[in-house]
Amino acid sequence: MCGIVAYKGHKNCYPILLNGLKRLEYRGYDSAGIACLNSDNKLSITKRRGKVRELESAITNIDCDGMGIAHTRWATHGRPNQINAHPHTDQSKKIVLVHNGIIENYIPIKKFLLSKKVKFKSDTDTEVLVQLIGYFYNKGKMNFEKAVRAALQRVDGAYGLVILNKDYPDMMIAARKGSPLVLGLKDSEFFIASDISPIIKHTQQILYLKDSEMVVIDGKDYNVKSVNKDIALPKNIEMIDYKIDDYDKGKFKYFMHKEIHEQVDTIANTMRGRIRPDAVLLHGLSEYWDEIEASDRIYITACGTSWHAGLIGKLLIEKFSDTPVFVEYASEFRYNHTLIDSQTVVIAISQSGETADTLAAIKKANDYGAVTVGICNVPGSSVGRETDCGIYTRCGHEVGVASTKAFTAQISILYLLALKLAYAKGTISRASLKRHLDYDDSLKKIQSLFHQEKLIQKVARKYKNATDFLYLGRGLNFPVALEGALKLKEISYIHAEGYPAAEMKHGPIALIDKNMPSVFIVPKDKTYEKIISNIQEIKSRKGKIIIVTNSRDKILKELANDLIIVPRSNIYLFVHLATIVLQLFAYHMAVINKRNVDQPRNLAKSVTVE
Ligand code: F6R
Repeated sequence: MCGIVAYKGHKNCYPILLNGLKRLEYRGYDSAGIACLNSDNKLSITKRRGKVRELESAITNIDCDGMGIAHTRWATHGRPNQINAHPHTDQSKKIVLVHNGIIENYIPIKKFLLSKKVKFKSDTDTEVLVQLIGYFYNKGKMNFEKAVRAALQRVDGAYGLVILNKDYPDMMIAARKGSPLVLGLKDSEFFIASDISPIIKHTQQILYLKDSEMVVIDGKDYNVKSVNKDIALPKNIEMIDYKIDDYDKGKFKYFMHKEIHEQVDTIANTMRGRIRPDAVLLHGLSEYWDEIEASDRIYITACGTSWHAGLIGKLLIEKFSDTPVFVEYASEFRYNHTLIDSQTVVIAISQSGETADTLAAIKKANDYGAVTVGICNVPGSSVGRETDCGIYTRCGHEVGVASTKAFTAQISILYLLALKLAYAKGTISRASLKRHLDYDDSLKKIQSLFHQEKLIQKVARKYKNATDFLYLGRGLNFPVALEGALKLKEISYIHAEGYPAAEMKHGPIALIDKNMPSVFIVPKDKTYEKIISNIQEIKSRKGKIIIVTNSRDKILKELANDLIIVPRSNIYLFVHLATIVLQLFAYHMAVINKRNVDQPRNLAKSVTVE
């Protein structure tokens, strides 16, 4: 989704802003723009449809000693073209703004401004906002800060924004509601961005703006204020410990590939400090643990890949702790009649911590008095702040649009949570808990999986022209099938569906012919024999069979057109192993089909609109 970066300090703005925009490219965008206000009060704006490199080559004078704002736009209102790209200016061309989010009541505001003879250039809701600020500033004789506040108090919807005004050559104003914004501080330099990726290179001192807060930077000083009232608020500065390596591809061509390979380390990081030989430590839940343990019902809510992790979480929590769990898409949960009260625990899972639907679901759960638990990867994000308690997945910044390492981190956390709950409720024994928590060997098995990558690449080459795939698994591996299918769809644009393996008979089998491959996920567990029957049903209809298994049985060799054998493991580790195989398969399919793996078309990393 849209990205913002802004800089105020003594250095040339352009390189800082352009490099910042490149850091934000992972979020997905279709146009980019930059506005710089020089100390001689000259405002230069450049915008381009397409990539940041096109914007960069369009800038003629790459020198600015003042301050600047820049943006990558992911179109919502108005087509992705140069006119609709940000920054936008008001009619007087004094005020310039970049904006993430959606102004929901932009139509009545636009009507009002049109009645006041304001002329619009673009189709965007953002221009309506900057024109409204301009209207208050020019007509209402308000100072800059007051005009911003007056406009923001009249808009509904979400915003993260940064604004400059030619009449205030030493002032930068930023504000947020619903759309994240962070401020980076370094001596007398200020960095503002929609996430920390453009800032981390410059400083680790971060201030996360909260909803309805604004920051007014004036000269070398700054104040955090409320959007609603002119009152100063505390400056909660944090030192963050993200590694700059997270933003470099290293020896890999794509972030997604790097992130798939990182999973041995990221899973170890997720588990670190949380396991004693006979106890699970989840300090983030301590304050609410009694309520969580006593709860008679758990809801898990999330979107996309995080929702798939939720499905696995449900099966683990129900199996180990006998607590009923319901899993709902956050976009449905927020509107459905859900049975939640103060006895219910609602777990929200989100890699980014900023997904609009998930945040709305959390709000609903909070309103109903439920205990809300966040499982999230980004410290300081909205999910972390809006939930009562939570657990960070700690897998480092995920840059590739297709989520990989965050998924395995989420299921690792859900595994720990299920075990902790079960042990507390007495539904598993100490000996069993101990066995489950012994995971050193698991990491070695995950590492050894990467020896299979050449084979997986070869299988991908073989099926590169297939247009449809079925992914089939049972139990814990049904969500793995869904996730495998989603990965293939989103980065290679090949149609794929995930189903419970036996469900395939109830409709999808009609699709099977010699051109349609089915990917079966086959652990050696209690459903093994049944899945073999399902495979036979497809085989007898001439469907192509790819099997991911931890069994070396002859029958699988006979049935499979392609067989990928992962290390022998229990069913819980198998979920990780099979997932990583499917991630690698999707990755190689996308590369072979020459797709832009890290920035697939139409997709955004962080979906901050409903
Ligand atoms: C798929 C993917 C998305 C996200 C979904 C939720 O690879 O990344 O399906 O999982 O948009 O995002 P988060 O987890 O940030 O709430």
